[in-house]
Amino acid sequence: MSLKPLLTIAMLAIGAQLLAQYKQPAPDVIDKKVEALLSQMTLEEKIGQLNQYTSDRLATGPLTPNSAKYQEIKDGKVGSMLNIRGAKETRMIQEMAMQSRLKIPLLFGLDVIHGYRVTFPIPLAEAASWDMNAIESSARVAATESAASGIHWTFAPMVDIARDPRWGRVMEGAGEDTYLGSLIARARVRGFQGKGLGNLDAVMACVKHFAAYGAALAGRDYNSVDMSDRQLWEIYLPPFKAAADEGAATFMNSFNDLNGIPATGNAYLQRDILKGKWNFKGFVVSDWGSISEMIAHGFAKDNTDAARLAMLAGSDMDMEGHAYINGLAGLVRDKKVDVALIDDAVRRVLHKKFEMGLFDDPYRFSNEGREKKVLNSVANRKTAREVAEKSIVLLKNDNQLLPLSKSAKTIAVIGPLGKSSTDMKGFWSVDWENDHLVSLFEGLQNKVGKQTQLLYSQGCAIKDSSRNGFADAVATAQKADVVVMAVGEAFDMSGEAKSRSNIHLPGVQEELIKAVQATGKPVVVLVMGGRPLIFNWTADHANAILYTWWLGSEAGNAIADVLFGDYNPAGKLPMSFPRAEGQIPVFYNAKSTGRPSPDGMPAPYRSTYLDLPNTPRYAFGYGLSYTSFAFSDLKLSKSTMQANETIEISFTLKNTGRYTGEEVAQLYLQDVTASITRPVKELKDFQKVLLKPGESKTITFTVNKDKLSFYDQKMNWTAEPGEFKLMIGNSSDHILLQDKFELFN
Ligand code: NOJ
Repeated sequence: MSLKPLLTIAMLAIGAQLLAQYKQPAPDVIDKKVEALLSQMTLEEKIGQLNQYTSDRLATGPLTPNSAKYQEIKDGKVGSMLNIRGAKETRMIQEMAMQSRLKIPLLFGLDVIHGYRVTFPIPLAEAASWDMNAIESSARVAATESAASGIHWTFAPMVDIARDPRWGRVMEGAGEDTYLGSLIARARVRGFQGKGLGNLDAVMACVKHFAAYGAALAGRDYNSVDMSDRQLWEIYLPPFKAAADEGAATFMNSFNDLNGIPATGNAYLQRDILKGKWNFKGFVVSDWGSISEMIAHGFAKDNTDAARLAMLAGSDMDMEGHAYINGLAGLVRDKKVDVALIDDAVRRVLHKKFEMGLFDDPYRFSNEGREKKVLNSVANRKTAREVAEKSIVLLKNDNQLLPLSKSAKTIAVIGPLGKSSTDMKGFWSVDWENDHLVSLFEGLQNKVGKQTQLLYSQGCAIKDSSRNGFADAVATAQKADVVVMAVGEAFDMSGEAKSRSNIHLPGVQEELIKAVQATGKPVVVLVMGGRPLIFNWTADHANAILYTWWLGSEAGNAIADVLFGDYNPAGKLPMSFPRAEGQIPVFYNAKSTGRPSPDGMPAPYRSTYLDLPNTPRYAFGYGLSYTSFAFSDLKLSKSTMQANETIEISFTLKNTGRYTGEEVAQLYLQDVTASITRPVKELKDFQKVLLKPGESKTITFTVNKDKLSFYDQKMNWTAEPGEFKLMIGNSSDHILLQDKFELFN
């Protein structure tokens, strides 16, 4: 008998299993089960639930050798493992946990940051889509794939606001803006957790890094953070709150100290704010070794002291710190830690294990049949391609060089990233044998017909100083009708511990662009990387520039779609691009100061630089389209509002160009005079609108009291009466409509 019908039946069964909605027991039913289990646990078993080890094979931090860890699992001394993946492997390790006295299943956690089997664009790139459905769909695919591979828990989303592109981890977040970042935090939590924990295509989200990790001093990873409470509450905390409100299952604390107290030992953050004010019911995992790192911070005197401080502060689980497992029991016996705190942490962890259905079947996520079916499907790759298209930002397009004609005879691909596929995967991707990431060159080959000849010359390496390849690159360009240059960073130049003080295009790449541009051929520059890079000469001289980040598995295909106009780019920068490192931090929602320069240009006795404008090279919210849009007819439903009222702001958006395209219309507000100095503008709403040529649409934004509020001198969230300026534009630095209104109390 052929295997085919059997396979089909099996696949239908798997499909039905995935579709069937998991029936979650009521929370109080779970509470009772948790209590019943807790009452049977010894202190050592409880502490075991708070202990997380990494696999030895994949370390995402400094590894502490421990040959006993698998025996410890059998002894009930481990609650979770990270960096184990695959239905087979997770089943094998789970079987060890099933040998323990109480048979409490392990949680398997992994950094599923931008895709699992299919790699999606890095989160910063996805943020450039300003498209919450796209971002949610990316997280959904990642969840579906990883959950089919035995994973219960992803260490994402990272919701750290970041204003410093020297910090390599900007690639993992949503950029500099709190409002956009909060929406994205929610979308990603929805995507990961799907219809809810317990479903076979849902993984627990882990919101990180709590808190203020993105403000690391001087952009150096793991560095200290010192900031006002106002800035913390206004800029850095809201995306965490949004993710918690969306039902995120877990949080991760952070490596940095905040105002002198390491986040891991910070009771204000974890107990007062997260578990107190926000009533968060999930659990908090430490970052890798961050409990024991409190010794190096000079905050704990040894590992036991670190365990005590972390437990008192509300860190529930110890990731690879070996501090809880070695120190907590003694601390309880010595009465330095109340067992009630440990019980609370264990309850939180067990609750999630019940919610995931792991006590019904500890192997329910470890199903090789489902894994085979779900991973790397055509549909998942298609989603990755669509999200990649949406992530691309068109920075420049002189004389409408783009889109390229499909009948171009000869196209030269030049640059160190032209044929690279590895770099398309970005820093936080999962490694696979025989992975297929589509390079730019391959994407172009897939796109163009036989009449088009594709040439290639590498020109130079990403980081080297050798110019030996320039002559060949120039000769190749000379043979072409148009040149597409692929420059930028290697996949491991932005990410964790990848801070850089020089964020110009690395090596001699900009010189290569100069040499090629000197041929007089039309040049399109594609910049690939994990952070805003600096490339002023290119910005001034190249004919067209697309920022293509690291786009994942379908990178080359998505770029080709955009280059030839099968997709009209609509991305907008989620982070300002500086002109020079000396401007950093440069962000759009800055304060006016007492001596502003009206145009940001150097001026005597003004808040400016002698040698640079204040403005970034490319501003937050900036991005072009192949078509053009007009903004007109601004109308306010009224010019004054009471605090309990709203104002409707409407205007007409028209596609005035030749292509169907999307525009992101952005609403910014400014509280003109207040008891606290306010930013010159803050994003408060936006809409991404698709319009055909000649088509127009009325767009409406609603302003309510919350959009006008801020933390006053007593740290009360309030809106003060007075004048507000409203600005509507297609970028934070390109305001096309403006008006004002007044708030009365
Ligand atoms: C350290 C990183 O800061 C964190 O984001 C990550 O989830 C863990 N390592 C685990 O890999």
